[in-house]
Order: sequence, then C-alpha cells, then structure tokens
Amino acid sequence: MSYLDQIDPRRVPRHVAIIMDGNGRWAKSQGQPRSAGHQAGVKSLHETLRGAKEAGVKYLTVYTFSTENWNRPRQEVETLMNLMVWAIEQETPGMIENGVSLQVIGDMSRLPENTRQRLQKCISDTAAGKVITLILAISYSARWEITRAARQLAEKVKSGKMKADEITEDAVSAQLTTINYPDPDLLIRTGGEVRISNYLLWQIAYAELYFCDTYWPEFGPEDLYKAIVEYQSRERRFGKTSEQVSDETK
Ligand code: IPE
Ligand code: IPE
Ligand code: MG
Repeated sequence: MSYLDQIDPRRVPRHVAIIMDGNGRWAKSQGQPRSAGHQAGVKSLHETLRGAKEAGVKYLTVYTFSTENWNRPRQEVETLMNLMVWAIEQETPGMIENGVSLQVIGDMSRLPENTRQRLQKCISDTAAGKVITLILAISYSARWEITRAARQLAEKVKSGKMKADEITEDAVSAQLTTINYPDPDLLIRTGGEVRISNYLLWQIAYAELYFCDTYWPEFGPEDLYKAIVEYQSRERRFGKTSEQVSDETK
C-alpha cells in the first residue's frame, strides 16, 4: 500500500520546503564524481514535484544552491549553474503541461547574466500555472534575506515612507523574498544531517521539521508521502494547549 492512501486530503500541508541534501555522498557511495550526484538529484526533484502535485501540495520550495555554496570549488559551482539551467529548460514544457509555475528566490545578482536570463524566461513561460508553484532557492540564505529586509525597512523609514513603530511582523514578512507564499507547514531535510543551514529561518518559525537519512538522489514520491503522513500525526499547537486546539477543531 502506498503512503499516499494514508494521507488525509483535508490536512495536506499547503507548503512543503525541502533541503535537498546528500548528492555528493550518494555519488561517492556509487564510486562516481559529485557531479553525478547532482545530475541524479534532478530526477529526484522531477519525481518529488510530481508526488507533491499528486498529494495536493500547493507550494514546494527547494534549497537548490545556498549563499554558502558559492564557497565550493569553482568547478563544482560551474557544474551546478550549468546543470540548473539545463534541467529547468528541459523541464519547462512538462511544467507548462502540468500547471506548474516556476519561481526563484535568492540573490539573483550573483548569478551569471546568461543563467539569470534563461531562468527568467522559464519563469515567464510557466507563469500561468495554477496547480502547484515550484520555488527554487538559488543563491539564497535566510540571513542574506533578513539583512536585506532590514535594509529596505531602514530606507523606508529614512525617506519618511514609514514610521519606525510601523515595523510589525507583517511589515518584515512583506520585505522577504517569500512575500507571495504562505509559510511552510512542513520542512524536510534529506541526507542525514540535522540542521537548517541558513534556510527560511523566519518562515519556518512554526513549521513541522522532518529529517530523513535518505540521500536526495534516492528520495521520491513515497518518501514525501511518508513525511506527510508523519506531519499529519503531529499536533500543531502554535503555543496553545492541546485542549484549546482540540476545542477549535470541533
Ligand atoms: C546537496 O548535496 C546539493 C547542494 C548543496 C547543491 P551536497 O552536494 O551537499 O551533497 P553532500 O552533502 O556533500 O553529500
Ligand atoms: C544545504 O546543503 C544547501 C542545499 C541543499 C542547497 P549543504 O550541504 O550546503 O549544507 P551544509 O554545508 O551541510 O550545512
Ligand atoms: Mg550537503
């Protein structure tokens, strides 16, 4: 029996965020170069996106390349940039057909001009997709994003567009790259490490966290469904008591 059958369709996480980790270790375990792991990871993303759509997830945000990943060997960075563009272009027709809209969050100014333009084209080509939004976090880190938000708010106050006491949580959220998406309900990290690595720190304040040992190239729809089933077994209290929560759902 598939885990899909165990999912309660009324309580599917609207937004799932994934830290796709373990490509390099998977490749090593196969006696292959790290690049082979990244290549295999593309297929996992394709399959996982299909699974997310099947389960009824509306937003899937995947950590594709972090700010800190710029510090990897130049050759690996280059491979990853090329692979990203190649994969996205190859996937675009299928995404259009399946109602997937592609979005990107992160510091695009650090990407090579050509990469940026080609990504932008895929974003426009898939803009009409209404079934699921795939958000790639590229050249992204939460501290970069929060620092940028602080700077933007400071500029607004300085120019008189805003008062300091108007800086509310909503005002901060509105300066983040994720302004158009709800906060993630479920955060998954593959590859065995139990850390957040500078991902969506503000937005995951109340997300349910799920860590699995599976290397990303071996992750697929069943693993996603399993995580969703586990998510549905948790009680999200948002600071309240269990009794309050069960009264609210009556
Ligand atoms: C995740 O896999 C992909 C990126 C960070 C781009 P890794 O490349 O981090 O793989 P491991 O963690 O070294 O196995
Ligand atoms: C996090 O993985 C970034 C991505 C998955 C893109 P890393 O492999 O870079 O994280 P650390 O270095 O193990 O924390
Ligand atoms: Mg890693």
